[in-house]
Amino acid sequence: MSDSELEPSRLGTKAHWDSVYEQEVANFEDTGDEGEIWFGEDSVEKMVDWALENISPASDLSILEVGSGNGTLLFALAEAGYNVSCLAGIDYSADAVKLAQMIASTRGGEKITFSQCDFLADLPAPPLAKTESVGSWDLLLDKGTYDAIALGEKDAEGRSPATPYPERAARLLKDGGFFLITSCNFTEEELKAAFATPLTGLKYHSRVKHPSISFGGKSGSVYATIAFQKSV
Ligand SMILES: C[S@@+](CC[C@H](N)C(=O)[O-])C[C@H]1O[C@@H](n2cnc3c(N)ncnc32)[C@H](O)[C@@H]1O
Repeated sequence: MSDSELEPSRLGTKAHWDSVYEQEVANFEDTGDEGEIWFGEDSVEKMVDWALENISPASDLSILEVGSGNGTLLFALAEAGYNVSCLAGIDYSADAVKLAQMIASTRGGEKITFSQCDFLADLPAPPLAKTESVGSWDLLLDKGTYDAIALGEKDAEGRSPATPYPERAARLLKDGGFFLITSCNFTEEELKAAFATPLTGLKYHSRVKHPSISFGGKSGSVYATIAFQKSV
């Protein structure tokens, strides 16, 4: 299914995410519950394992998660040994940022930068020791955000709000930088068609295997995790 074939839903609205994180902030304050882990812990482990295999934590490379929610993936990267000062998350929901910062303060992750930013409208702040965000990031991560954006209302020409996403992601990356995405709405082939284009300069790099399910005589994975690399 292409992004323009998806039916819009509440998950594609900022109002939805604002109300989710307002509730999750209240839950965290009441009980310490850190909130939902999208796609489960297995998806977090698999993305961290991919990072460890491809980008050494010994190097101070800059890593940005687009739509970082409660920050689970970035905390897992910090636990795996990545330099907290080089990790950043952006989310357009102010309460998502607040939740991630509150959790960070209980986990010694205060040096991870969480900031409010609409990925489709604004540029994230540059990584540490850089003055520019464009062309500066070594690794961009997405776990469920491209999926959410693709569920937004289409414009008058029927274009999905996700249409500009691949180019916006690619231009933030350094030459040779990676984009690692986990999606439940798009297959590997659909992600390749959207991201590995001449306009982005991204090329398919590798995939992470997820358990396969069979249904109606067909088998496939519930999620796709794919890495792309920006041409040097
Ligand atoms: C499915 S949740 C995933 C959150 C997080 N990546 C995780 O795995 O827990 C999608 C996230 O994308 C954020 N989001 C959606 N559209 C966005 C946009 N245009 N700019 C920044 N964040 C966005 C939402 O607020 C939400 O936190």
